[in-house]
Amino acid sequence: MTTTLEKLEILPLSPTIGAEIRGVDLSQPLDDRTVSAIKVAWHDHIVLLFRDQDIDTEQQIAFAEHFGDVGTRSRPAERRPEGADYNASIMLVSNIKKDGEYIGSLPDGEMWFHHDMCYDRAPHKGTFLYAMELPSTGGNTLFANMYAAYEVLSDETKERIKGQRALQIYDFATREVVDISGDIAKYKHEIQPVAITHPVTGKKALYVNPLITARIEDWPEDESRALLDELFTFGENPDIIYEHEWREGDLIMWDNWCSCHARTDFPASERRMLRRCTVKGQPLYE
Ligand SMILES: [Fe+2]
Repeated sequence: MTTTLEKLEILPLSPTIGAEIRGVDLSQPLDDRTVSAIKVAWHDHIVLLFRDQDIDTEQQIAFAEHFGDVGTRSRPAERRPEGADYNASIMLVSNIKKDGEYIGSLPDGEMWFHHDMCYDRAPHKGTFLYAMELPSTGGNTLFANMYAAYEVLSDETKERIKGQRALQIYDFATREVVDISGDIAKYKHEIQPVAITHPVTGKKALYVNPLITARIEDWPEDESRALLDELFTFGENPDIIYEHEWREGDLIMWDNWCSCHARTDFPASERRMLRRCTVKGQPLYE
């Protein structure tokens, strides 16, 4: 199928976040006008879904390259279960085992809301996730619109978080934040604004999440905990969330600066594999 701008359709997936893009075959080269239209839709809808795609690793990376420099992973050589198939730009999200070892990362279970790479000085802007093998039920991804999460805060809360910064720290767990009472040097971490200004859209977005945000910088622990717990209630606000039930052949690209995402549980006895790459970002504060 040749993609032309005339065939492109944009159908919202929920009132506040997500749109399905139809009329695009990601296995084929895309012309500049189509790429431009997808970029506009991405900034409008934050999460874009492309159904029924049949793409290999190179085609996925070629598509992502339209939106930035494709990121590479820092995983050390001895922890590369993909073996000879290892590609520094690709992460498999999978519970499948080969010779007793997981072939990918983040294998099983529920995963709390998080922004990918918010513990990095320059968090990657976009994540591209392609569904290859899925369980019969569960493993859905929830996406939260963090512009909307910021917008619904009271004026008083907006004033309280103005200029505040938070510690983002990660140890690759899925359902608990790092215990920061000990030495945190061994974990990836970064101080980030509690609310960021999106570098492209110029809009404010809440930039904290229950999996990676450990503390409001320079606040007493109890006050920090109380504020974070209040801010984390976005994860229970259905008005700003789209829950995606994956189908094989789905590719979803999302903006990590203004959304966060979570995963629902699924049967550990069933195979699940998705292929992920990212595009690099920039620092979100001076
Ligand atoms: Fe993630």
